Amino acid sequence: MNSSQSMENGARNAPRPQSQSSGSQYRAPTEEEVALMERTKVTASLLDYIDRFKQPYMNDVSCYEKLLKIGQGTFGEVFKARCKKTGRMVALKKILMENEKEGFPITALREVKMLQQLKHQHITELIEICSSKSGSPHKERATFYLVFTFCEHDLAGLLSNKRVHLTMTHCKTLMKHLLSGLHQIHHASILHRDMKAANILITRDGVLKLADFGLARPVFKRSNHMYTNRVVTLWYRPPELLLGAREYGASIDIWGAGCIMAELWTRAPILQGDTEQKQLQLISQLCGSIVPEVWPEVEKLPLFRQMELPQRLHRIVTNRLGPIIKDKNAINLIDKMLTLNPSKRGSAEEALDHTFFFTSPEPKEDVRDLMAGIHQSLFEYTQGRGAHAGQGAQPHRESSRAPNPPRQSNLANTGYHDIVF
Ligand SMILES: Nc1ncnc2c1ncn2[C@@H]1O[C@H](COP(=O)(O)OP(=O)(O)OP(=O)(O)O)[C@@H](O)[C@H]1O
Ligand SMILES: [Mg+2]
Repeated sequence: MNSSQSMENGARNAPRPQSQSSGSQYRAPTEEEVALMERTKVTASLLDYIDRFKQPYMNDVSCYEKLLKIGQGTFGEVFKARCKKTGRMVALKKILMENEKEGFPITALREVKMLQQLKHQHITELIEICSSKSGSPHKERATFYLVFTFCEHDLAGLLSNKRVHLTMTHCKTLMKHLLSGLHQIHHASILHRDMKAANILITRDGVLKLADFGLARPVFKRSNHMYTNRVVTLWYRPPELLLGAREYGASIDIWGAGCIMAELWTRAPILQGDTEQKQLQLISQLCGSIVPEVWPEVEKLPLFRQMELPQRLHRIVTNRLGPIIKDKNAINLIDKMLTLNPSKRGSAEEALDHTFFFTSPEPKEDVRDLMAGIHQSLFEYTQGRGAHAGQGAQPHRESSRAPNPPRQSNLANTGYHDIVF
């Protein structure tokens, strides 16, 4: 509540003296009424009290000590911080309030709502929301932070470090965690809509957590519900979104999961387009031409005739990944998740049932042994690579800030290898 609002409220609640113009009807207020008027008068101390009472159940962010900036998202910065009382490590995600006229931004509210619904071992844990009192008395709005349990690494940071060696068991375990988290999200009728390596976190105990629910939305049962197609970072965006689909489902996240699974071996995003047109071209070169013969409904998509779709290309997922992955079950699962036709891509549950997870070496509980050999936190941001550096065009978020523009590929000095499949 701001001071002008509280003035209005105070005036509205105070007993009104009868109008003087009504002449003979005027009577002086009783002693009791005067006392009541005194009590409800909008004084400086009342305003101060209201201001302090604004978020009665919210901790002030000063109860955390900020240690290091670990992320720069579309919505603001992410810091590693320590709880001054308990010593617990957390990640503070600052909510950008720049152009918010209505108080707490709707996008952040959605993220909180989704996270509250999604309590799961493989989903990032929201501890609380904090606020910081505005420094200046003229600045009325506080800054808010989402407080998460701290995870030691993100997958983009891990994969960019050449000293991190992933065995087949690590890859299986990580994919099992990822698909279990995704299954939980889809089971709760939610779409993540921003699957990418930087949004996959790994704890010190070697447990994977899906993060960043800033773009997540409920699955609408009504068949005529239209979503935006400007979601999912370009490199992980499935063909149906690139062709303008506004009605889509969980399969958009499965495509992203397929890209991430391949990245565990290639160590770099497998489809690094710098425009939507280029992205479709790269997808066609790997997955074959996008034609009605393999995907009958594709002709109905809004951009099918507008985009240039290369013809007569064969699907070469197996041939291209074979020399790098050397496990036919792994390639087969990636191949399935990278199916052009979304209705044939399979679900997270089906992927979890794949032979890949039941053949030797089998997945373990966690990748704790991998974590034991890494002595420094690895994040996309601190490693200086990836989408935050302007690569991998960001999805459109309903934010006051424009999404990062796609940049021409200049990956040489970032640790990202320009592997084009
Ligand atoms: N709980 C956490 N523990 C450790 N690091 C985290 C945590 N949450 C987020 N991060 C780091 O901060 C980065 C940005 O966080 P997040 O993806 O939630 O923000 P965002 O603003 O939505 O980002 P973007 O727009 O780039 O996707 C992550 O990629 C990750 O590196
Ligand atoms: Mg993110």
